[in-house]
Amino acid sequence: MLRIAVLVSGGGTNLQAIIDSIADGRITNTEIAAVISNNASAYALERAEKAGISARCISPKSYQTRAEFNEALLAAVDEAGVDLIVLAGFLVVIPEAMIARYRNRIINIHPSLIPSFCGTGYYGLKVHEAVLARGVKVTGATCHFVDEGTDTGPIIFQKAVEVREGDTPKALQRRVMEEAEWVILPRAIDRIANGAVSVEDGLVHIRQQEA
Ligand code: GRF
Repeated sequence: MLRIAVLVSGGGTNLQAIIDSIADGRITNTEIAAVISNNASAYALERAEKAGISARCISPKSYQTRAEFNEALLAAVDEAGVDLIVLAGFLVVIPEAMIARYRNRIINIHPSLIPSFCGTGYYGLKVHEAVLARGVKVTGATCHFVDEGTDTGPIIFQKAVEVREGDTPKALQRRVMEEAEWVILPRAIDRIANGAVSVEDGLVHIRQQEA
């Protein structure tokens, strides 16, 4: 059984997609051991509680230094005894010590087709605003392992989403979540939980599912 920690900051729709996918069998061999939010008012915390999952807030505001916050975050994940850390809309920079300790065991969902519209400053609605400003006709989402860079880690899954005439950043954000993020993040967890994912020289290989 893969034990995962889901780290969140906001609405938690990706967390909900994971909870629902475990319930309906799209994700197998997986248990959510902990949900951690940096933001006490994140609706994601309520979603976790409703699903009977242990959830807590670890906020940088409660610590005098960033280093103390980083230590507390790492300690919480360690205590939960998890095999995989899932960043599901987590807006905090991951401590380097955590990346090193959980090498190829942290995944993130990013709302664009990496390497487009990613890196520093590309988060939330800003991504979709930039997509519309550039006039690209296809966008999407990327699920990737986390390394020391911003959105630079090995890519696990990507899914394209059409940009439509008249899209607003919010409308596009919603379509990218529905059509791509909520599909590929659960799929990546399921494939990892079932031992189908390996990383070699910075590239991800996925063993095909048997028919
Ligand atoms: C998603 O768009 C995700 O790609 C981005 O932040 C948003 C989180 O949404 N990193 P939610 O909290 O899962 O609803």
